[in-house]
Amino acid sequence: MKISKCVFPVAGLGTRFLPVTKELAKEMLPLVNRPIISYGVEEAIASGCGEIIMITGRAKRSLENYFDRSFELEELLKARGKMELYEEMIKISNMAEILFIRQREPLGLGHAVLCAEPVCKNEYFAVALPDDVFVNPDEPVLSQLIKVHEKMGGSVIALEEVAPENVSRYGIVKSQFEIEPGLHKIIDMTEKPKLEDAPSNLAIMGRYVLSPTVFEILKDQQAGAGGEIQLTDAIKTLCPREPVWGVVYNGRRFDCGTQKGWLAANVKLAMDDPELKEVILKIVASRS
Ligand code: G1P
Repeated sequence: MKISKCVFPVAGLGTRFLPVTKELAKEMLPLVNRPIISYGVEEAIASGCGEIIMITGRAKRSLENYFDRSFELEELLKARGKMELYEEMIKISNMAEILFIRQREPLGLGHAVLCAEPVCKNEYFAVALPDDVFVNPDEPVLSQLIKVHEKMGGSVIALEEVAPENVSRYGIVKSQFEIEPGLHKIIDMTEKPKLEDAPSNLAIMGRYVLSPTVFEILKDQQAGAGGEIQLTDAIKTLCPREPVWGVVYNGRRFDCGTQKGWLAANVKLAMDDPELKEVILKIVASRS
């Protein structure tokens, strides 16, 4: 069965960006002129997932509004003859079928994914963490994972080799063997381990293709690292039951959940635009 659904956990508070996230959803922070969330949604659509499920919280109304029609704005743009912008606005609201589900309590990523069960039960589904933004990969990272699922069956997670000092920031996997370069059979994983306890330096990045069995596991999942119900712990339990593959993806990731990563992504995107590139180069040259 084709994977058509992609779950976006977007209930997080974005404390790393306070005070701006006091009022603005962190997924709405701009990468030049598009919000972070639109990169993930476009990636999911380009990977064949036309049904988007967002697991939201209280302060996330702006996400719903962004993907909705805005008649007032559309009429204004039309009246002023700004047809290109008008078409662009319509395109955003027609992008995908988007369903919003509230996560009532901030119990962790595993709990957020469990909130998607009513919509995704009995079928494999994708999960995308919007903080992880992949800029201009040759092939969307989610699509790279879906291809592995179609070939090998089972669940698939995106992996990246990280420097030792960053190991404790991620879910880290243990590979049983590498069936082909960059494709690992995963037998164990641990969320945010200390370097000395880490089974490798292969870190889980925010793209997954998951078996619906994970919902059954999540229902009994106890809180783990940080006192939260962790998705990593549930996939660990899945490992001995069903195949779990890890793919070292092709592409460049920016961690837009941190100020440094978000700024780097903005600079990268600006450097890819001839006009904005000049602005950056001028600022850097004048060092002011
Ligand atoms: C989450 C996952 C973690 C993964 C990371 C990737 O952590 O729990 O396993 O490595 O995303 O960005 P978070 O960044 O939400 O703390």
